[in-house]
Amino acid sequence: MIKKTLVALSAIALSAGTLSACGSDGGGEAAADGGGSDDTITMGFAQVGAESGWRTANTKNIQEAAAEAGVDLKFSDAQQKQENQIKAIRSYIQQKVDVIAFSPVVETGWDAVLQEAKRANIPVILTDRAVDSEDTSLYKTFLGSDFVEEGKKAGQWLVDNAADADVDGDGDINVVELQGTTGAAPAIDRKEGFEEVIAANGEISISQSQTGDFTRDGGKQVMEAFLQSEDDIDVVFAHNDDMGLGAIEAIEAAGLVPGEDVKIITIDAVKDGMTALSEGKINFIVECSPLLGPQLMDLAEKVLAGEEVPTRVVTEETTFTPEQAAEVLAERQY
Ligand code: AHR
Repeated sequence: MIKKTLVALSAIALSAGTLSACGSDGGGEAAADGGGSDDTITMGFAQVGAESGWRTANTKNIQEAAAEAGVDLKFSDAQQKQENQIKAIRSYIQQKVDVIAFSPVVETGWDAVLQEAKRANIPVILTDRAVDSEDTSLYKTFLGSDFVEEGKKAGQWLVDNAADADVDGDGDINVVELQGTTGAAPAIDRKEGFEEVIAANGEISISQSQTGDFTRDGGKQVMEAFLQSEDDIDVVFAHNDDMGLGAIEAIEAAGLVPGEDVKIITIDAVKDGMTALSEGKINFIVECSPLLGPQLMDLAEKVLAGEEVPTRVVTEETTFTPEQAAEVLAERQY
């Protein structure tokens, strides 16, 4: 296997385990050769950014899993910008990495760069988030959560707890929604799943819905605006823990008690979210696991060895009440 010098990427932060990259025909030479430094699999991973506790845990898990599997990881942080991710993927193609993995910032606009990877015979694995490409031959597999299902679980908790959620007792359950990044698969799918399930209860409706970009600051700012524009908010549905934690700050600043005066439902179950849940400031969390690294390395090895892999690998996840959060908090990894 010929070693090539890493091509520097301007404007995108890259962290690399080594400064070499193995070329590949995408059909399995690296893994099939069996051991030896020249057979090291080189993976280019284009991450979304560092917008949330979930993302930080996901990055750490992928880096640790790569080290554990002996994979040479080229890592880039797109700072939540699609153009940065496209630049990073093009750089990985230029470097002739063996496999490219990425978590797309948004669903649309990937066909051109994915076709470039395909023409270069570099297999692509989607992790965490989907693309909307009709040509599914542009990627080998998609590993990650079922975001529609997560939205449904959040909606089902609200339907099941509707009586408690009518905080002001006016017979209507007024929900405000903090959406994830506009155009991102988890924002689109969680909204869809939640709306589908709450439609079963005519008393529940969403009065306002805006993006907080999956960040704590974004959640806080949008919640402040919601609180200023209406005073009968019963429930916050936040598409992730970080935005829910930002909403808690806004609710407390408005002199209200989060979890009591305003019920809060979030998605992720990172440690900060689980702490707030165990304290009763959040009422329900739907888990979204960031621990995708070991499965990603396993899929990459199989793809490069020419083995069949499922086109979709769905992450197993659960839900947490405050009592359940208190039980598992001490051993929560992230
Ligand atoms: O794509 C997964 C989502 O992205 C997580 O729920 C969120 O916290 C992150 O930013």
